[in-house]
Amino acid sequence: MSESASRATATRPLQVPDPTIPQDGSFLAGMKNAALNDPAPANWDPHFRDVIDAVILVGDQMSGPRTRALAAVHQLIQAAHGVQILGEEKGHGLHNKNGDGIEHFGYVDGASQPLFLTEEINDERLTANGTSNWDPAFGLNRVIIPDTSAPDPTRHFGSYFVFRKLEQNVKLFKKQEKALAKRLHLRGDDAERAGAMLVGRFEDGTPLTTQFTDGNHHPVPNDFNYDSDPDGAKCPFFGHIRKVNPRGSGGFEPVEGERLHIMARCGQTYGVRTDQPNDGRIDNKPSKDVGLLFMAFNANIAQQFEFAQGTWANNPGFPRVPAGAGSPGLDLVIGQSPNPRPDIHCPAQWGGSTMTTTTAPPQAVTMKGGEYFFMPSLAFFRSLP
Ligand code: HEM
Repeated sequence: MSESASRATATRPLQVPDPTIPQDGSFLAGMKNAALNDPAPANWDPHFRDVIDAVILVGDQMSGPRTRALAAVHQLIQAAHGVQILGEEKGHGLHNKNGDGIEHFGYVDGASQPLFLTEEINDERLTANGTSNWDPAFGLNRVIIPDTSAPDPTRHFGSYFVFRKLEQNVKLFKKQEKALAKRLHLRGDDAERAGAMLVGRFEDGTPLTTQFTDGNHHPVPNDFNYDSDPDGAKCPFFGHIRKVNPRGSGGFEPVEGERLHIMARCGQTYGVRTDQPNDGRIDNKPSKDVGLLFMAFNANIAQQFEFAQGTWANNPGFPRVPAGAGSPGLDLVIGQSPNPRPDIHCPAQWGGSTMTTTTAPPQAVTMKGGEYFFMPSLAFFRSLP
């Protein structure tokens, strides 16, 4: 499978008439101008520093078709005049022993997604997780918009595509998990809870708000919310998944408003590991050159991706917490701030009322570059001169 997406600047060589260019403000401004506390573009990987007009995604589970598709793309680009490849990123999928896809810190990823297709929604409702506590069904208007550059925008749709290369310092993260467990005096199996507090799920995907230990991974649960956890006594407020999808517990807007910020994610890990990600050792873990190629499809970048990163993950004042509970803190996986990270408040026991205040682990994810693109409809490509 291969797909391509074009950024605002690419619309000129493609002779897209100005009035039909997709008008999302963040797309037009570009990621380099986004207010997300990202590192300065001068510190991004070199191929992200230039103006990037387009990205081509090539993927297949089988290596043969993937290699052939990649070769065909290279051939087309070589034959085209004035097109230059700035850089290439290679994804390498990772799986745990249950066969679930994981990210480099060792946690199941991609478990919670907005679902758009009736069969997927029915499957989730009837045969997988259930949908009594969290409704995974979202309208198509949360992922596609009329493609104004296509011949008939009432019938042809496109999507804004967010691409970010996020390097993961696995050694630092694993050290911090251990140090946090020590500071909180979590012993034996309970030590796993330290990492689960940072992510909001145990490594196998068990949501921390639903039980105090791992083991609930068949299928990886997604039918939960934070109603029984208003004080962050099970899953702390800074846990990544609680920050980026508060499931009605954010306290600033009703759940219908919060749901407008949810986006379809399709991250792909990159970098080759020579160790086993979940082997419990720290000394052999990589500190660079591995991470996540974060990708997401949005109908509105400011309302979805930028809101989740900027207004939720980077904001030490989100969610609204009970009086006297202190700062909820940054998202401890992806939060970025020029200010020191506020101390965090962690339940000494799962669901208990005693909170321990301790220093927040440092940032172990570094943004290395990225851009906003628009993925047009096939009708748009067919209409090109
Ligand atoms: C290296 C960076 C990242 C890592 C290691 C990471 C890791 C994870 C993990 C382990 C999960 C739990 C699995 C799941 O629920 O699907 C998750 C969920 C999620 N992540 Fe990330 N993530 C990263 C970057 C991001 C970014 C940049 C965003 C958006 C700003 C984001 C948004 C989400 C969302 C919306 C969920 C689902 C939450 C839910 O519905 O409960 N993640 N992530």
